[in-house]
Amino acid sequence: MVSTVHTPARIEIAPSGEMTGSTRVYRKHLGDMTAVYRDTAAHEAALREHGPDHVVYEVAEHRYGDEPGSLIVGTSTLQPGRYGHEFAVTRGHLHGIADRAELYHCIGGHGVMLLETLDGRSEAVELRAGQAVDVPGHWIHRSVNVGDEPFVTLFCYAADAGQDYSVISDAHGMRDLVIADEDAGWRTVTNPAHTGYRP
Ligand SMILES: [Fe+2]
Repeated sequence: MVSTVHTPARIEIAPSGEMTGSTRVYRKHLGDMTAVYRDTAAHEAALREHGPDHVVYEVAEHRYGDEPGSLIVGTSTLQPGRYGHEFAVTRGHLHGIADRAELYHCIGGHGVMLLETLDGRSEAVELRAGQAVDVPGHWIHRSVNVGDEPFVTLFCYAADAGQDYSVISDAHGMRDLVIADEDAGWRTVTNPAHTGYRP
């Protein structure tokens, strides 16, 4: 098999998450987050206040191609926010090829990586600038901003991994929610709407 040899890319990454050389940038807006937050009334109130085009998070990525062995390197910038008691989140996903791992290195802000397996394990890894989490394969993952500033992470994962978002929506959300806590700042609680992940 002949594989393509790409030219190495130098990438500048700012603490804000801005990066040069990205091959794709996409944004998720308040209008894209219907049914993501448990408190739908709070989400609807935010929609009325800020409008559907209000940016919740932005992802910039650099990839050479989709071939196995390539990497996707990028940044995720999740704005602060609260929807009822629940902090702002990304949609979250399981990799389409579920055994693919991913590195998330926090370069700004204060967040939590919420991690769950299909068979019932849960972890919430708190991240501040300089801290990283090496997410193993087979873990559903979602970023949560528990601070007042944008939560910015640098991520890196296999280019053939893909994303399965329906695993979360089919289960009516992840098993845990990250909510505000007066003393600790944040804590996880069980999502009463969660119906269990399909095997
Ligand atoms: Fe991922």
